[in-house]
Amino acid sequence: MSTTYRIAPSILSADFARLGEEVKQVIAAGADWIHFDVMDNHYVPNLTFGPMVCQALKPHAVRADGTPVPVDVHLMVQPVDALAAAFAQAGAGLISFHPDASGHVHRSIQAIKAAGCQAGLVFNPAMPLDVLDWVIEDIDLILIMSVNPGFGGQSFIDSALRKVEAARRRIDASGKDIRLEVDGGIKADNIRRVADAGADTFVAGSAIFGQKDYAAVIAAMRAQLA
Ligand code: DX5
Ligand code: ZN
Repeated sequence: MSTTYRIAPSILSADFARLGEEVKQVIAAGADWIHFDVMDNHYVPNLTFGPMVCQALKPHAVRADGTPVPVDVHLMVQPVDALAAAFAQAGAGLISFHPDASGHVHRSIQAIKAAGCQAGLVFNPAMPLDVLDWVIEDIDLILIMSVNPGFGGQSFIDSALRKVEAARRRIDASGKDIRLEVDGGIKADNIRRVADAGADTFVAGSAIFGQKDYAAVIAAMRAQLA
């Protein structure tokens, strides 16, 4: 069975003065999803953008042929539920949250799905996967952090590879179609190792937006995955 890999550029590293243009350019360069990092200066020590920015970008998240490109919202906020609902309204395709930021993880997942979005759980570098014992049947995505959340441009933490392997075993055992995404420090020169550990979806911020030619970076990543 062949894996469909997805590359999700994080606009955290884009030029915020030209966000709409950046979204269009990175889609033209081959992005599969747009990764949207929401930080609240509470759960993480940084502050980014909210649902109004997501709504404003949504019309730009389309391919040349008019196909929408999913907006992959990564909530680094506490509490979770009110903002998750606002992002569902603002056009998010997938909404992921950190289970340690929600008082009622199962309820948050159900609320995201009831709002018509796919739901994901995010695991920080030191967080165990145990909560999956109880909710893996309910989710569409597992996101493994390979840096501590809050900033772009950090170095990949190698223990994430073991966690990706463990998450892959859980997904295979569940028999469910669940995406396994990894976020932080991913570049063309380590993406293959992350894929070999079992990931199928890759967030990359600084690696893509830090270069002039987005298409060349995405092509180099896909060549590694081929
Ligand atoms: C970090 C964010 C990441 C970030 C990754 O809290 O969740 O999505 O943009 O940035 P890079 O790819 O630069 O490590
Ligand atoms: Zn992220």
